Amino acid sequence: MIKINDLCFSWKNTPVINIDRLHIPVGQHLFIEGPSGSGKSTLLNLLAGVLAPQQGEISVLGQPLSELSGSQKDSFRADNIGFIFQQFNLIPYLSVIDNITLPCSFSKKRKTNALLRANGGDLKSEAIRLLNALGLDDNALFQRSVNELSVGQQQRVAAARAMLGSPEIIIADEPTSALDSEHRQAFIKTLFEECQKENITLIFVSHDKSLKHHFDHCINLQEINNVNTKESV
Ligand SMILES: Nc1ncnc2c1ncn2[C@@H]1O[C@H](COP(=O)(O)OP(=O)(O)OP(=O)(O)O)[C@@H](O)[C@H]1O
Ligand SMILES: [Mg+2]
Repeated sequence: MIKINDLCFSWKNTPVINIDRLHIPVGQHLFIEGPSGSGKSTLLNLLAGVLAPQQGEISVLGQPLSELSGSQKDSFRADNIGFIFQQFNLIPYLSVIDNITLPCSFSKKRKTNALLRANGGDLKSEAIRLLNALGLDDNALFQRSVNELSVGQQQRVAAARAMLGSPEIIIADEPTSALDSEHRQAFIKTLFEECQKENITLIFVSHDKSLKHHFDHCINLQEINNVNTKESV
């Protein structure tokens, strides 16, 4: 599913990632931990092809990312990866619903999957199903632009966007950081239901150790990364 070999990445001239080997099989639910600044977000961005390594190879679903052009990477990502970014990366001038259905504008595969899951409904009803499962059920909210939402609400919109249309892989970077315990539980329940139904591979970064037991595999980034990053918290 995902194979990393001899991977090196530096920000400017500062090495951040140096991983000999990491293989993540299809359907695995992987929890990645590590202190702040240890390179977790950098690694996730490399896996999704958002960043390109200076050395080494990353292959996703049998496709070496280095063989893809910039626009091919964009469509590969839209088809196969749902990414919950640490900073959400929502489009501020679009509504909640339009943000969530956006990947379906770039990917026929995601659109077809989403309509299948909608069971006769449309993309909007599928987006609302996910929002409701995540504890957002105020219809008035759905047509608002996302920058009128609280941070915790925005985080759930980002989560619904990543899950819509069942991508092969969901990458989640601190996806519960802004959620209270009730919404955190609803999020975890929904995420695992979606992943189990469609055999989605899940790569999940969190500082919240209480979530670890939900996962079948756990990695401490510092144990596989041959770079001495400073611990800042
Ligand atoms: N855009 C950037 N330009 C330069 N350096 C960066 C950039 N983004 C991150 N870094 C550096 O790379 C290192 C790893 O950062 P990264 O964001 O991957 O850490 P992290 O493990 O995700 O931390 P956190 O838990 O705080 O989110 C840090 O030393 C950081 O300063
Ligand atoms: Mg991070």
